Amino acid sequence: MDKKIYLVTGSAGFIGFHLSNKILSKGFKVIGIDNLNNYYDVKLKKKRNYILKKNKNYIFKKIDIKNYKNLETVFKKHKIYKVIHLAAQAGVRYSLKNPRSYIDNNINGFFNILEISKNYRVKKFVYASTSSIYGLQKKFPLKENFNTDNPIQLYAATKKSNELMATSYSYLYKMDTVGLRFFTVYGPWGRPDMALFKFTKNIIKGKPIEVFNKGKHERDFTYVDDIVDGIIKIVFSKKKKFGSQIFNIGNGKKIKLLKYIQLIEKNLKKKARKKFLPLQKGDVFKTHSDTRLIKRYYNYNPKTSVNHGVKKFIKWYISNIK
Ligand SMILES: NC(=O)c1ccc[n+]([C@@H]2O[C@H](COP(=O)([O-])OP(=O)(O)OC[C@H]3O[C@@H](n4cnc5c(N)ncnc54)[C@H](O)[C@@H]3O)[C@@H](O)[C@H]2O)c1
Repeated sequence: MDKKIYLVTGSAGFIGFHLSNKILSKGFKVIGIDNLNNYYDVKLKKKRNYILKKNKNYIFKKIDIKNYKNLETVFKKHKIYKVIHLAAQAGVRYSLKNPRSYIDNNINGFFNILEISKNYRVKKFVYASTSSIYGLQKKFPLKENFNTDNPIQLYAATKKSNELMATSYSYLYKMDTVGLRFFTVYGPWGRPDMALFKFTKNIIKGKPIEVFNKGKHERDFTYVDDIVDGIIKIVFSKKKKFGSQIFNIGNGKKIKLLKYIQLIEKNLKKKARKKFLPLQKGDVFKTHSDTRLIKRYYNYNPKTSVNHGVKKFIKWYISNIK
């Protein structure tokens, strides 16, 4: 059988790893692209990539999406069927420290991958956006048609730009593009710069955890398997020629940060030493997704409760992270 090739950018990243694994488990070929940058522990990225490489249908290319010519070597050699673009400079707080990285990776890098997908006529272009683009929206749950013109940091501004760039390409070149606004994704193999990982690490070590906004934040935490399930439904959907689409992809339920910390404490059987800090510049107070649109179009159905998801993360953490 001539296997269709799916290109996943950011394949050594948290979500890219889980997604690639899932596509490979269906028997398809995946070309994974990642520059293995050191935004967080590269060893974790290499470990994820090592697991993927055990599958003979996985081809890894250490390429930086900022370099169009290098990207083109892949597209020239392989007929890419669909692209799932997840490589980016992620993180809200880091965008205040190193804004240039967001412009370089999320604007210029995004443009390269969009442009090459157009030039080589890929069948579908699916890419990561974020719940952060809703900014300080006061109405909840957050709906796709709410105004997103007021991002409160550059990370959100770059992701909003991605949605606009993809929409224009979709119109000009009849490309099918789908932007997915992820809501705080967590789970095994998760990112060390995110709250669950940091809290777990410090609680185990008996170090204080930094609780911003005095713990009043509310988040729609989405388990990674549910995110992957949603992406898969979209990537493998048979719907023909739909243009440009944008969807929330969240759990659809919100939880207070302090409650989330209690869940971690319960699973670790250890109390956290909390250091309460004020709201950080660039942080949004609350996220809570309305997921009816993606449910209607693609039958998306998140299954993992935050109780169960945190338990699974901690089990993974204890057996994998020293
Ligand atoms: N995890 C979340 O909660 C969340 C929420 C909203 C949006 N997102 C978005 O989802 C996507 C995946 O996020 P993640 O949590 O898996 O992050 P991640 O940092 O674990 O994965 C991103 C991967 O992309 C790679 N990468 C970055 N710049 C690159 C470049 N120029 N060339 C090649 N590779 C590059 C990194 O090395 C990394 O392995 C990102 O676009 C992110 O902005 C994530």
